[in-house]
Amino acid sequence: MRKNIVAGNWKMNTTVPEGVKLAKEVNKALEGQDVNCDVIICVPFTHLVPVNDAIDANKLGLGAENCADHRSGAYTGEVSAPMVASTGAKYVILGHSERRQYYGETSETLKEKVGLALENGLTPIFCIGEVLEQREDGSYFDVVKKQIEEALFNLSAEDFSKLILAYEPVWAIGTGKTATDDQAQEMHAFIRKTIEDKYGKEVAENTSILYGGSCKPSNAKALFAKPDVDGGLIGGASLDTESFMGIVTAF
Ligand code: PGA
Repeated sequence: MRKNIVAGNWKMNTTVPEGVKLAKEVNKALEGQDVNCDVIICVPFTHLVPVNDAIDANKLGLGAENCADHRSGAYTGEVSAPMVASTGAKYVILGHSERRQYYGETSETLKEKVGLALENGLTPIFCIGEVLEQREDGSYFDVVKKQIEEALFNLSAEDFSKLILAYEPVWAIGTGKTATDDQAQEMHAFIRKTIEDKYGKEVAENTSILYGGSCKPSNAKALFAKPDVDGGLIGGASLDTESFMGIVTAF
């Protein structure tokens, strides 16, 4: 059975003390709740160790927002998958549209990152999604299919089963313009079918596919009620405990 998951993506926000405070607040809010989903926060590299020390791993999962496409060596400024894993983090966001758009990440580099993450016991939260122009010209199914095929279909069924996917239409990220629950469902069903065609029904049925893009307490319930939407990857609303918890409790 696939899991319901709500994951926060803090992006480049909060200093270390601010981040530790926020993580503690979220952890505390979860202590009093019986929630129906796994809850994860993905934080800047600098925050991983202190946040890991500050939270209860049984209540709140921890992830990074990226990792390098090499194992180690002369790559100044990069942070490798083994380094991320050594902090205690269990997850890593890969292929976020901001990484693709501003840092030139391609399917080729992402394929390396996914392989290294898995090799080091990290669960990738792999992001896919079309830009506005592709939504408008109708090529969005092809675009998303290609992103999955190019970066992930080299994996064995066993390795693919370890992934979490996140559909994030780029036009909905940070814009306040959410995909409708029907638009999300349509794409999530398509993604699941794409997985089924390659890896079979069991793998497809067991893959958690999250929706991301202006997800907030007011729209989370309708989105999560869709049969193929297994949770959310939350940017802006994950920086405020009350909003984030409003989404977590939408399940
Ligand atoms: P948003 O970001 O919730 O602020 O739109 C989502 C994301 O980029 O993961």
